[in-house]
Amino acid sequence: MDLVDEISKKREFSCLPKSVIERVLSLVDVSLCEKDKIREARIILRKYFGVFLTNKVVKPKDVFNYNSVLLSHKSSQKRDYNIFYDMVRSNFGFDDNFKLNFIDLGSGVNGFSYPYLKNIFGNVFYRGVEASKFVVDNTNLFFKRSGYSENCACVWGDLFDENLVFGILRGVEKNRVVFLFQVIDALENLERDFSKDFFLRLKNDCELILVSLPLLSLCGKKRFEVRRKWILDFFRDNFVVLNSCEMFGELFIFLKCT
Ligand SMILES: C[S@@+](CC[C@H](N)C(=O)[O-])C[C@H]1O[C@@H](n2cnc3c(N)ncnc32)[C@H](O)[C@@H]1O
Repeated sequence: MDLVDEISKKREFSCLPKSVIERVLSLVDVSLCEKDKIREARIILRKYFGVFLTNKVVKPKDVFNYNSVLLSHKSSQKRDYNIFYDMVRSNFGFDDNFKLNFIDLGSGVNGFSYPYLKNIFGNVFYRGVEASKFVVDNTNLFFKRSGYSENCACVWGDLFDENLVFGILRGVEKNRVVFLFQVIDALENLERDFSKDFFLRLKNDCELILVSLPLLSLCGKKRFEVRRKWILDFFRDNFVVLNSCEMFGELFIFLKCT
């Protein structure tokens, strides 16, 4: 039995790159029988992806109602994007003559906030990378029908695919701003310490990074103090930390690559 195919049979996981499912399978106890391996892998996938891939997110009623799509996703629903992108501008110290290119890794439905991004930064380049094919297709449909396709696209893929991620970054002109909102936990849970190497590599292929970490766990309780400490220390040692602030239940950290 091909376990990856078997796991992908569940509709909610059929939209994920095979490499994501393979990685999750590699975390499962090898001594389990095939049926239990499939069950365990699905539990892990549900934990890290399922919670963001609800029906409302993957099948929005109206893909052009960008506010309702943003409200449907656990990660974006608390953000006031006018305030948010204004805060991004002031923290990175941009003026109107500065042409920026945004690359949003693990973008979720964040591409639907492009009208707000455009309001603050003008007709900027936006490239999302996201594991859910459903979300990617919806985002691209929104870009196409709203006339944003010239500058905007969302790419389906796995952030562990270095050729894909760094290939995209190298193809983008300088003044690249990488967004990594609420994705570090997903990456770390699939491969411990992955993010350290990832950030060090990112340093060579972008100029600015904005990271966000959730202040609360998904169930709304536990704080991530310990995990946050190592990552904040790591940022201080390897980047210029321009600022950090708490907003919308997230800790945002503004990094300059030197
Ligand atoms: C917590 S959500 C955050 C979404 C968005 N960054 C935001 O804050 O609005 C994490 C997103 O990362 C995506 N993701 C997780 N692991 C990924 C991977 N290996 N490759 C691509 N996307 C991934 C998930 O599908 C999900 O949409």
